Amino acid sequence: MATTSDGIRGIGHSVKRVEDARFIRGKGNYVDDLQLPGMLHLVMLRSPHAHARIRSIDTAAASALPGVVAIVTGEALAAHNLAWMPTLSGDTQAVLATDKVRFQGQEVAAVVAEDPYVAQDAAEMIEVDYELLPAVVDPRSALADDAPLIRDEKEGQADNRCYHWEAGDAEATRTAFEQADVVVSLSTHYPRSHPAPLETCGCVADVNPATGRATIHMTSQAPHAHRTLFAIVAGLPEQNIQIISPDIGGGFGNKVPIYPGYVCATAASLLIGRPVKWVETRTENLISTGFARDYHMDGELALKRDGTMLGMRVNMASDQGAFFADAQPTQFKAGLFHICTGSYDMPAAHVVADGAYTNKAPGGVAYRCSFRVTEASYLIERLVQNAALELEMDPAELRRKNFIPPEAFPYHSVTGFVYDSGEYQRALDLALEKVGYTEFRREQAEARSQGRLLGIGIASFTEVVGAGPMRQYDIAGLKMFDSAELRVHPTGKAILKLGVKSQGQGHETTFAQIVAEELGIPPEDIAVREGDTDNTPYGLGTYASRSTPVAGAATAVIARKLREKARTIAAHLLETSEDDLEWETGRFSVKGAPDRGVTIQDIAFAAYTNHPEGVEAGLEGVHYYDPPNMTYPFGTYVVVVEVDADTGEWKVLRMVAVDDCGVRINPMIVEGQIHGGLTEGYAMAAMQQIAFDEDGNCLGSTFMDYLVPTAWETPRFELHQTVTPSPHHPIGAKGVGESATVGSPAAYVNAVIDAIAHLGVRNIDMPVTSGKVWEAMQAAKAGS
Ligand code: CDP
Repeated sequence: MATTSDGIRGIGHSVKRVEDARFIRGKGNYVDDLQLPGMLHLVMLRSPHAHARIRSIDTAAASALPGVVAIVTGEALAAHNLAWMPTLSGDTQAVLATDKVRFQGQEVAAVVAEDPYVAQDAAEMIEVDYELLPAVVDPRSALADDAPLIRDEKEGQADNRCYHWEAGDAEATRTAFEQADVVVSLSTHYPRSHPAPLETCGCVADVNPATGRATIHMTSQAPHAHRTLFAIVAGLPEQNIQIISPDIGGGFGNKVPIYPGYVCATAASLLIGRPVKWVETRTENLISTGFARDYHMDGELALKRDGTMLGMRVNMASDQGAFFADAQPTQFKAGLFHICTGSYDMPAAHVVADGAYTNKAPGGVAYRCSFRVTEASYLIERLVQNAALELEMDPAELRRKNFIPPEAFPYHSVTGFVYDSGEYQRALDLALEKVGYTEFRREQAEARSQGRLLGIGIASFTEVVGAGPMRQYDIAGLKMFDSAELRVHPTGKAILKLGVKSQGQGHETTFAQIVAEELGIPPEDIAVREGDTDNTPYGLGTYASRSTPVAGAATAVIARKLREKARTIAAHLLETSEDDLEWETGRFSVKGAPDRGVTIQDIAFAAYTNHPEGVEAGLEGVHYYDPPNMTYPFGTYVVVVEVDADTGEWKVLRMVAVDDCGVRINPMIVEGQIHGGLTEGYAMAAMQQIAFDEDGNCLGSTFMDYLVPTAWETPRFELHQTVTPSPHHPIGAKGVGESATVGSPAAYVNAVIDAIAHLGVRNIDMPVTSGKVWEAMQAAKAGS
């Protein structure tokens, strides 16, 4: 649906990613590639215990190792008031433990040495005397009266409650449930998972002792917000801090929190006066940095006998780990989980959420989803399936009956969202048509009579992305706008600078296409710059699919402002009035005389050489965009599986995905995003979790235990689309980056349940391993 030519390649063109030219040649520029003269290396000593008091730390032997420059402990940091730091959710977090360790993998001491291997050897020579304390590894036990207190250092903290939060209307929901013919329920756990980006976290901190300038090269999804927090934590004047996020090898929410390693490396560089590099190992990344999910959810759905939904009730306990450190918008303690009414016209709902501290690593990041929407979508789609089974209704029909109809938009949900647009039935119908639903149901019945277990699972999801309107959304007080600065140089080439930061999403390609669309300058003439706080306008960063809805909008708006200035210059060059001019991609011409025109390149040159009197020279500007609303991408995923009746093993036979993210800027990049998300959804459903034993030992600390699917296991995806533009977005685009992860896990699990539902199975928690399926089938057979 592109409107520009193949020369201009604006919105709707599958332009190949310009960044791939360096990535596929191994010429990317990552933090660990950086070598500075005199650079030292920092290695963290981490706690082997989940909960223990520190009696003493002996660093004498380690300090004596040749090559060791310094060993930093919590006590040393405390002397500079740096032992604790504020988190992005308004809590505090230990930089290095002083009193207790509160999760396995917590940072206890930092060794700085000439060589990373010497630093590692020295870390192993540090003797820490621990007094073991009982560990708490799930939120419900953490909230029990007799639970050991984890955050005993926090004034006024008498239990392990991190927050209590409610949304919706309790009274209206109670009435709805009283009027129900049928109530279905589901208790489920969305397991802890880890974003596991290819590149782990790290930084090179370079504080110049002469000038006091701190240049911090850092794996950051939000460099500007991090600069401000660094200024607050370290007391450095903000103009002296430059954060540079070079190429980033995947973030997925993992590179949003501030980690002790960044702070220790910066403090060490400040104190020693030499650059200090800290780069995590894979295991450190998996056990200590921002995890995701870990929501224990009890949901109930009230319905009339004919399938009409009346209300929804949710009790949720969130395992936040030892510190509430993820970046949730300040007003929404449980993230945007209250979107759990999904795509349905739900008359009443009440959500109660309790966050608990446990002896696990902190996190709960927006991992390939917008602030906890994945958990919400999973819950409602599993409940809908259970309702269909209970009512003996077709699950597609039950969805159709309850979808918010297109004419109801903008739709005000009972938990406080205003959905901008949606055509849910269209997406569902397309997915069912593509998968051949009616035919499949016949095949399924026939197969069952022959002892074969086929199942089909549907998930219709609604995401809420693009945080967000500043009146409602902020992180640590910083309002969630974003920015774009555009300069068109005299030769008609442009540079676009953004407040967001790509971690592999292809911003250098897609954002140039937005400018191409608006100004008619081809993408290869536009350089896109991100991730250097000295050289880009302030922004909140890239996560929760916010880049396109917010910074993409900022880009379109600033390009349009420059076009208006270009009109003034064109009128001057053509000696006519502005009203007499017509714009056609890349060129102004005189109405009725199309031959009399000037190109954007002519205008750019004139902006510096021959601009009208009274008009400022140059063709540049910056725009800070405050979105009027979030955007609401949606879709339907349908999965077909076959379950082996003897072993419980299940295989995906078809995976049909219909996504609607409004106008697609670069269809090929969007498909890539969807492939990534669908793979992740499959991983969650089939094989992936970070588990803990009862002592708080992390059981998912390597890729031998934490399974990342390869092309071998991953199903083949069949992608389709509908296009429902966002009515309030300047180019009608909705964010898409994460939708596939949000929507797909429920589709896989629903498919497995569908295959064995006739045995009475209603729930198997993720990951749905063959062992769990087999056990569920045995239990069902024994019970019947
Ligand atoms: O914030 P993040 O970049 O992770 O997510 P996003 O805004 O959903 O965008 C992911 C990638 O898909 C970016 O390169 C976008 O420009 C692209 N995209 C697109 O081409 N069209 C859309 N309607 C949405 C995203």
